[in-house]
Amino acid sequence: LTDDLVKYKDYVFAKDLVNAEHIDSLQSFEIRDSDIFLVTYPKSGTIWAQQIITSICESEMGDIYPNNLEMMPWLEYIDKRPDYSLRPNPRLFASHLTPVLMPPGLRDKKMIYVMRNPKDNVTSYYHWCVNWAMFETPKIGASSWFDHIREWHSKRDQYNILFLTYEDMIMDLKTAVTKICRFLDRDLTEADINKIVEKATFKNMKNDRKANYEFIPEDILKKGQFLRKGKIGEWKNMFTVAQSERFDQVFEERMKDIRTLKFIWD
Ligand code: PPS
Repeated sequence: LTDDLVKYKDYVFAKDLVNAEHIDSLQSFEIRDSDIFLVTYPKSGTIWAQQIITSICESEMGDIYPNNLEMMPWLEYIDKRPDYSLRPNPRLFASHLTPVLMPPGLRDKKMIYVMRNPKDNVTSYYHWCVNWAMFETPKIGASSWFDHIREWHSKRDQYNILFLTYEDMIMDLKTAVTKICRFLDRDLTEADINKIVEKATFKNMKNDRKANYEFIPEDILKKGQFLRKGKIGEWKNMFTVAQSERFDQVFEERMKDIRTLKFIWD
């Protein structure tokens, strides 16, 4: 840990993005039935799912938010945090937190959890951190990937969770969008769904000023790209054969009791 990072409970935070007092306050954060939560491990497809969910809800929310970040903010970030109790329904939140840090009221409520094969996840995260590290301590926050996945997976009977993978979204975006609509009880027409799929392609997100994160300060943007490659299997350009084999061993060991979770690796 460096001076910029702080460990609190089971999570490591970037100090200027999150603080312990705010995290503790989430224990009494009131959840509404209409709230929609998206939870992910960092770099596993958050802003992609965010684009899908905000697009699904756009017609009912009106054009009151300038971009996806303000429409669906991270619950844990303290920077420019408005008073969420004043927000109209539906409120949308993203989060990278673990279950123990989440508002207890989220239990029984719907949330979407997106995960990514961990070799690509770490590759994406690595590029983010390397770019940052050229300037200063990376703005990262995380627990271990294994713990995050295991913790949320173990809560599947207490929460109402739609589990999706990044790879599901790459292989068949329309089916993923349709699943999210059904889960959220949004009855959209096929034409609406097609529009959302179009808006959520990598190429279109790059050009979408509400979704491409070019609205965040330039000094942050130049340090890490939110929309970098957008592919499955990029890990092959980073892992050596030995590292990949070692990773497979660790994966096998740590995930052997939850074989129902399947990932596509390339
Ligand atoms: S963050 O910082 O935690 O919110 O990052 P996150 O959004 O979770 O993950 C960023 C990676 O998701 C990729 N991405 C996409 N891939 C395919 N299609 C679309 N539309 C898309 N949108 C985001 C993004 O490129 C990052 O992955 P890498 O592998 O680094 O390209």
